[in-house]
Amino acid sequence: MHRPAAIAATRSAILGILISFLIGELAGAPLTDAEQRGRLIYQEGRTSSGYPFMVKLPYSPAPLAGRAFPCAACHGADGRGGSEGGIDVPDIRWQTLTKPHDTAKRTRGPYTKRALRDALTRGLDPARNPLNPVMPRFQISLTDFDHLFAYLQRLGGNLQASGLQPSGAGHARPPPEPQ
Ligand code: HEC
Repeated sequence: MHRPAAIAATRSAILGILISFLIGELAGAPLTDAEQRGRLIYQEGRTSSGYPFMVKLPYSPAPLAGRAFPCAACHGADGRGGSEGGIDVPDIRWQTLTKPHDTAKRTRGPYTKRALRDALTRGLDPARNPLNPVMPRFQISLTDFDHLFAYLQRLGGNLQASGLQPSGAGHARPPPEPQ
């Protein structure tokens, strides 16, 4: 005997379970090798490639080791930024960077991978506005940038489910005042 309504209900229940399982799998997907290497750069300012990773601050004559300025120290472990000591540190989750953004100080279009590299290495946003010098200028190899970019795309999205809870390690911690 056929009971179409019951069959349809069972089907949609099974479909529902399947869909939530798939979403769960995606959310929990472990970081790829490139993303893990990018995470090391973002969270700790360290690279695994062997290429140098340095920062240039406006008042320091020589570049400093990048590990003194991990992105997470200012933008937060989750990339959401914040405000501290009167300095606004922007949200740099990829979903935010790829939207146009308007503040009292800057109006910019969406970021591309190329534009992100210019922001890091030259301190320019997609509209070529110079970024506040509190945002360091980085010297980063193409390989390391690729890893960082891979991780940034995961940041703020699915990381919590994969057990990488933001450590809460420091929001906006601006560099020391010039001597
Ligand atoms: C010492 C603090 C500090 C560190 C470390 C830092 N940033 Fe920033 N960053 C800032 C501040 C402050 C701004 C805002 C600049 C402005 O609005 O002019 C900024 C701006 C940016 C922007 C521009 C966002 C926009 O909406 O245009 C990007 C992208 C960015 N940072 C990425 C990074 C990445 C990736 C790292 C690590 C490799 C990093 N930052 C490290 C402080 C920091």
